[in-house]
Amino acid sequence: MDTSVNALLVAMAGGLARPAAVNPPRTWTAPDTRPDCARERRIAFAPMTEADLDAVHAVESCAYAHPWSRKHFRDSLQSGYPAVLLLGEALPHERAQTARADGSVLLGYLVAMPGVDEMHLLNVTVAPAHQRQGWARFMLDALALWSRAQGAQWLWLEVRESNAPARRLYERHGFKQVGLRKGYYPAGHLQREDAVVMSLNLVPGDAAEARP
Ligand SMILES: CC(C)(COP(=O)(O)OP(=O)(O)OC[C@H]1O[C@@H](n2cnc3c(N)ncnc32)[C@H](O)[C@@H]1OP(=O)(O)O)[C@@H](O)C(=O)NCCC(=O)NCCS
Repeated sequence: MDTSVNALLVAMAGGLARPAAVNPPRTWTAPDTRPDCARERRIAFAPMTEADLDAVHAVESCAYAHPWSRKHFRDSLQSGYPAVLLLGEALPHERAQTARADGSVLLGYLVAMPGVDEMHLLNVTVAPAHQRQGWARFMLDALALWSRAQGAQWLWLEVRESNAPARRLYERHGFKQVGLRKGYYPAGHLQREDAVVMSLNLVPGDAAEARP
Protein backbone atom coordinates (compact mmCIF):
# COMPACT_ATOMS: atom_id res chain seq x y z
CA MET A 1 0.00 0.00 0.00
CA ASP A 2 1.27 3.46 -0.88
CA THR A 3 1.37 5.38 2.41
CA SER A 4 3.13 8.51 1.15
CA VAL A 5 1.67 11.76 2.43
CA ASN A 6 0.55 12.55 -1.11
CA ALA A 7 -1.36 9.29 -1.39
CA LEU A 8 -2.91 9.69 2.03
CA LEU A 9 -4.06 13.22 1.34
CA VAL A 10 -5.53 12.22 -1.98
CA ALA A 11 -7.30 9.25 -0.41
CA MET A 12 -8.64 11.43 2.36
CA ALA A 13 -10.47 13.83 0.08
CA GLY A 14 -11.50 11.38 -2.60
CA GLY A 15 -10.92 12.28 -6.24
CA LEU A 16 -12.89 14.60 -8.46
CA ALA A 17 -11.71 12.80 -11.56
CA ARG A 18 -13.02 9.46 -10.33
CA PRO A 19 -16.61 8.31 -10.76
CA ALA A 20 -18.63 9.53 -7.81
CA ALA A 21 -20.24 6.12 -7.37
CA VAL A 22 -16.85 4.50 -6.88
CA ASN A 23 -15.18 7.10 -4.75
CA PRO A 24 -17.48 9.93 -3.73
CA PRO A 25 -15.56 13.15 -3.20
CA ARG A 26 -16.02 14.70 0.21
CA THR A 27 -18.08 17.83 0.48
CA TRP A 28 -16.78 20.41 2.85
CA THR A 29 -18.74 23.42 4.01
CA ALA A 30 -16.72 26.59 3.95
CA PRO A 31 -17.32 28.85 6.95
CA ASP A 32 -17.47 31.92 4.73
CA THR A 33 -20.79 33.75 4.88
CA ARG A 34 -20.29 36.21 2.03
CA PRO A 35 -23.31 36.02 -0.29
CA ASP A 36 -21.14 35.55 -3.39
CA CYS A 37 -19.31 32.63 -1.84
CA ALA A 38 -20.34 29.01 -2.21
CA ARG A 39 -21.22 27.55 1.14
CA GLU A 40 -20.42 24.09 -0.13
CA ARG A 41 -18.33 22.58 -2.84
CA ARG A 42 -16.87 19.17 -3.50
CA ILE A 43 -13.14 19.15 -3.00
CA ALA A 44 -10.23 16.82 -3.60
CA PHE A 45 -6.52 16.71 -3.08
CA ALA A 46 -4.43 15.67 -6.07
CA PRO A 47 -0.69 15.17 -6.30
CA MET A 48 1.09 18.14 -7.89
CA THR A 49 2.86 17.16 -11.10
CA GLU A 50 5.05 18.94 -13.65
CA ALA A 51 1.93 19.38 -15.79
CA ASP A 52 0.42 21.58 -13.05
CA LEU A 53 3.34 23.97 -12.78
CA ASP A 54 1.95 26.66 -15.12
CA ALA A 55 -1.30 26.85 -13.13
CA VAL A 56 0.50 26.67 -9.80
CA HIS A 57 2.97 29.34 -10.79
CA ALA A 58 0.17 31.61 -12.02
CA VAL A 59 -1.43 31.45 -8.55
CA GLU A 60 1.94 31.81 -6.83
CA SER A 61 2.72 34.97 -8.80
CA CYS A 62 -0.59 36.56 -7.79
CA ALA A 63 -0.38 35.53 -4.16
CA TYR A 64 3.14 36.64 -3.22
CA ALA A 65 5.29 39.71 -3.67
CA HIS A 66 8.25 37.28 -3.73
CA PRO A 67 6.89 34.12 -5.37
CA TRP A 68 8.65 30.80 -5.73
CA SER A 69 10.01 30.24 -9.22
CA ARG A 70 8.95 27.24 -11.34
CA LYS A 71 12.37 25.80 -10.45
CA HIS A 72 11.53 25.83 -6.74
CA PHE A 73 8.43 23.74 -7.43
CA ARG A 74 10.20 21.49 -9.94
CA ASP A 75 13.05 20.83 -7.48
CA SER A 76 10.54 19.92 -4.77
CA LEU A 77 8.75 17.50 -7.12
CA GLN A 78 12.02 15.95 -8.24
CA SER A 79 13.04 15.53 -4.60
CA GLY A 80 9.83 13.60 -4.01
CA TYR A 81 8.52 16.03 -1.39
CA PRO A 82 4.82 15.88 -0.52
CA ALA A 83 3.19 18.38 -2.88
CA VAL A 84 -0.56 18.49 -3.36
CA LEU A 85 -3.19 20.61 -5.05
CA LEU A 86 -6.47 21.39 -3.35
CA LEU A 87 -9.08 21.26 -6.11
CA GLY A 88 -12.69 22.36 -5.85
CA GLU A 89 -15.53 21.47 -8.12
CA ALA A 90 -16.03 24.53 -10.35
CA LEU A 91 -19.14 26.48 -9.49
CA PRO A 92 -21.38 27.63 -12.36
CA HIS A 93 -19.90 31.13 -12.51
CA GLU A 94 -16.35 29.72 -12.52
CA ARG A 95 -16.76 27.17 -15.29
CA ALA A 96 -16.13 29.40 -18.29
CA GLN A 97 -13.09 31.26 -16.97
CA THR A 98 -11.18 29.16 -14.53
CA ALA A 99 -12.13 25.50 -14.70
CA ARG A 100 -9.53 22.87 -15.48
CA ALA A 101 -10.18 20.08 -17.96
CA ASP A 102 -11.62 17.88 -15.18
CA GLY A 103 -14.13 20.57 -14.15
CA SER A 104 -12.23 21.62 -11.04
CA VAL A 105 -10.66 24.90 -9.99
CA LEU A 106 -7.33 25.24 -8.23
CA LEU A 107 -8.12 26.49 -4.73
CA GLY A 108 -4.61 26.17 -3.35
CA TYR A 109 -1.63 23.93 -2.81
CA LEU A 110 1.01 22.96 -0.32
CA VAL A 111 4.55 21.65 -0.47
CA ALA A 112 6.30 20.07 2.51
CA MET A 113 9.62 18.40 3.28
CA PRO A 114 9.74 15.33 5.52
CA GLY A 115 12.42 15.03 8.19
CA VAL A 116 13.27 12.30 10.68
CA ASP A 117 10.42 12.99 13.11
CA GLU A 118 9.05 16.17 11.59
CA MET A 119 7.41 17.71 8.56
CA HIS A 120 8.61 21.08 7.33
CA LEU A 121 5.94 23.11 5.56
CA LEU A 122 7.68 24.87 2.68
CA ASN A 123 4.74 26.50 0.92
CA VAL A 124 1.01 26.83 1.55
CA THR A 125 -0.95 29.10 -0.73
CA VAL A 126 -4.61 29.77 -1.40
CA ALA A 127 -5.55 31.42 -4.69
CA PRO A 128 -6.55 35.04 -3.99
CA ALA A 129 -10.11 34.52 -5.27
CA HIS A 130 -10.62 31.74 -2.72
CA GLN A 131 -9.00 33.23 0.37
CA ARG A 132 -10.82 33.70 3.70
CA GLN A 133 -13.01 30.65 3.09
CA GLY A 134 -11.12 28.29 5.38
CA TRP A 135 -9.07 26.47 2.75
CA ALA A 136 -5.68 27.12 4.35
CA ARG A 137 -7.00 25.86 7.66
CA PHE A 138 -8.32 22.79 5.90
CA MET A 139 -4.96 22.09 4.22
CA LEU A 140 -3.08 22.54 7.51
CA ASP A 141 -5.48 20.17 9.27
CA ALA A 142 -4.97 17.57 6.56
CA LEU A 143 -1.20 17.94 6.58
CA ALA A 144 -1.04 17.72 10.38
CA LEU A 145 -3.22 14.62 10.39
CA TRP A 146 -1.24 12.79 7.79
CA SER A 147 2.17 13.93 9.00
CA ARG A 148 1.27 12.47 12.36
CA ALA A 149 0.10 9.28 10.67
CA GLN A 150 3.56 9.09 9.09
CA GLY A 151 5.19 9.31 12.53
CA ALA A 152 6.05 13.01 12.52
CA GLN A 153 5.97 14.70 15.92
CA TRP A 154 6.41 18.26 14.72
CA LEU A 155 5.32 20.54 11.94
CA TRP A 156 7.81 23.33 11.26
CA LEU A 157 7.67 26.41 9.08
CA GLU A 158 9.19 29.80 8.46
CA VAL A 159 7.04 32.84 7.73
CA ARG A 160 7.96 36.40 6.83
CA GLU A 161 7.79 38.64 9.85
CA SER A 162 5.57 41.05 7.85
CA ASN A 163 3.11 38.34 6.71
CA ALA A 164 0.39 39.09 9.24
CA PRO A 165 -2.36 36.95 7.63
CA ALA A 166 -0.15 33.85 7.57
CA ARG A 167 1.17 34.42 11.09
CA ARG A 168 -2.41 34.78 12.32
CA LEU A 169 -3.42 31.61 10.49
CA TYR A 170 -0.59 29.63 12.10
CA GLU A 171 -1.18 31.07 15.58
CA ARG A 172 -4.89 30.25 15.31
CA HIS A 173 -3.82 26.76 14.34
CA GLY A 174 -1.70 26.29 17.47
CA PHE A 175 1.76 26.99 16.06
CA LYS A 176 4.16 28.64 18.49
CA GLN A 177 7.00 30.96 17.61
CA VAL A 178 10.27 29.21 18.43
CA GLY A 179 12.87 31.40 16.77
CA LEU A 180 13.79 34.14 14.34
CA ARG A 181 16.11 33.77 11.34
CA LYS A 182 17.67 37.14 10.68
CA GLY A 183 17.63 38.28 7.06
CA TYR A 184 16.30 34.92 5.84
CA TYR A 185 14.14 36.23 2.96
CA PRO A 186 14.96 38.59 0.09
CA ALA A 187 12.83 41.72 0.38
CA GLY A 188 13.56 43.72 -2.77
CA HIS A 189 15.96 46.62 -3.26
CA LEU A 190 18.71 44.37 -1.87
CA GLN A 191 16.96 44.33 1.49
CA ARG A 192 16.38 41.22 3.60
CA GLU A 193 13.52 40.28 5.92
CA ASP A 194 13.57 38.13 9.04
CA ALA A 195 11.77 34.79 9.16
CA VAL A 196 9.70 33.82 12.17
CA VAL A 197 10.24 30.11 12.87
CA MET A 198 7.13 28.35 14.16
CA SER A 199 6.39 24.80 15.21
CA LEU A 200 3.34 22.74 16.06
CA ASN A 201 3.58 19.72 18.33
CA LEU A 202 1.59 16.96 16.65
CA VAL A 203 1.80 14.72 19.71
CA PRO A 204 0.80 16.97 22.63
CA GLY A 205 1.61 15.51 26.02
CA ASP A 206 4.43 13.43 24.56
CA ALA A 207 7.97 13.71 25.91
CA ALA A 208 8.68 15.63 22.72
CA GLU A 209 6.74 18.51 24.31
CA ALA A 210 9.96 19.65 25.92
CA ARG A 211 11.62 20.24 22.58
CA PRO A 212 11.47 23.87 21.34
C1 LIG B 1 -2.11 33.00 4.34
C2 LIG B 1 -3.11 32.25 3.45
C3 LIG B 1 -2.51 30.89 3.08
C4 LIG B 1 -4.43 32.08 4.24
O1 LIG B 1 -5.30 31.32 3.42
P1 LIG B 1 -6.88 31.39 3.62
O2 LIG B 1 -7.48 30.19 2.96
O3 LIG B 1 -7.37 32.71 3.19
O4 LIG B 1 -7.01 31.27 5.21
P2 LIG B 1 -8.28 30.71 5.99
O5 LIG B 1 -9.51 31.20 5.33
O6 LIG B 1 -8.12 29.24 6.20
O7 LIG B 1 -8.12 31.51 7.35
C5 LIG B 1 -7.85 30.87 8.60
C6 LIG B 1 -7.48 31.94 9.61
O8 LIG B 1 -6.26 32.57 9.22
C7 LIG B 1 -6.31 33.97 9.57
N1 LIG B 1 -6.26 34.78 8.34
C8 LIG B 1 -6.28 34.31 7.07
N2 LIG B 1 -6.19 35.35 6.21
C9 LIG B 1 -6.14 36.48 6.95
C10 LIG B 1 -6.04 37.86 6.65
N3 LIG B 1 -6.00 38.31 5.39
N4 LIG B 1 -5.98 38.74 7.67
C11 LIG B 1 -6.02 38.33 8.96
N5 LIG B 1 -6.12 37.01 9.32
C12 LIG B 1 -6.18 36.11 8.32
C13 LIG B 1 -7.64 34.18 10.28
O9 LIG B 1 -7.41 33.96 11.65
C14 LIG B 1 -8.49 33.09 9.68
O10 LIG B 1 -9.53 32.69 10.50
P3 LIG B 1 -10.92 33.50 10.40
O11 LIG B 1 -11.27 33.61 8.95
O12 LIG B 1 -11.86 32.62 11.19
O13 LIG B 1 -10.66 34.84 11.02
C15 LIG B 1 -3.46 33.08 2.18
O14 LIG B 1 -3.75 34.41 2.57
C16 LIG B 1 -2.35 33.10 1.16
O15 LIG B 1 -2.26 32.20 0.33
N6 LIG B 1 -1.50 34.13 1.23
C17 LIG B 1 -0.39 34.26 0.28
C18 LIG B 1 0.60 33.15 0.47
C19 LIG B 1 1.16 33.09 1.88
O16 LIG B 1 1.47 34.10 2.50
N7 LIG B 1 1.34 31.84 2.37
C20 LIG B 1 1.94 31.58 3.65
C21 LIG B 1 3.42 31.56 3.48
S1 LIG B 1 4.27 31.28 5.02
